[in-house]
Amino acid sequence: MNSRPPIITLDGPAGSGKSTTAREVARRLGFRHLDSGALYRALTFALLTSGTPEEDWPELPRKDFDRFHIWLRPEGPRFEVLLGERVLTDELRTPEVTAKVSPLSALPAVREWLLDAQRQAGREGGLVADGRDMGTVVFPNAEVKIYLTADLRERAFRRFLERSGTEPSDAELTLEAGKIQERDERDSSRVFAPLKKAPGAIEVDTSFLSFEAQVQVIIDHVKSLTER
Ligand code: DC
Repeated sequence: MNSRPPIITLDGPAGSGKSTTAREVARRLGFRHLDSGALYRALTFALLTSGTPEEDWPELPRKDFDRFHIWLRPEGPRFEVLLGERVLTDELRTPEVTAKVSPLSALPAVREWLLDAQRQAGREGGLVADGRDMGTVVFPNAEVKIYLTADLRERAFRRFLERSGTEPSDAELTLEAGKIQERDERDSSRVFAPLKKAPGAIEVDTSFLSFEAQVQVIIDHVKSLTER
């Protein structure tokens, strides 16, 4: 019998609302939220600001990333991502980091290097972890696995609105959808830990669900699996 609180994984493509949903689900359950994408973004940010030439990234040995001192600190209902003593927030969401993070995250050395920090975050359970491979690779024994999807243009619409605070024009929406699609294709087709639905995961399509409804669907599913 497993006595620690459960681990809930939320995987899915860019813009499917994973992070905001995971944060709210964690808050309602009194769990902690791990945004694993923020770790990949932190390493991208660290490499960019350290001036490491991009063409050298694929050859960097895993040990080399230790110099950045990227780590997770539990802080209330979430994990902060730190670079040394600096808490990283907005710098992880710049267009430059967003453009470079997907190819970096395809590198096996990067994925292996980040594995430990993520698993440590789930050591005591009570975690809602969102990303691309939470249910397949990082927490294959998680008690609850969710795969969150939404129509491509809906995801592009949400991403644009979130970033700029205004609704996109038709041309802006098409441009945003193209960028998201490119990233999804790269994340899904990579050899190591590609984005895919984990065995045993339930798929929740949020295209026509309100935020409240999608959070509730997940909470209900968690309860149905863990309160038996
Ligand atoms: O969720 P996000 O947009 O912050 O993720 C940024 C990138 O990091 C995304 O293009 C894929 C990668 N990523 C990953 O490969 N595995 C994860 N568990 C989380 C993110």
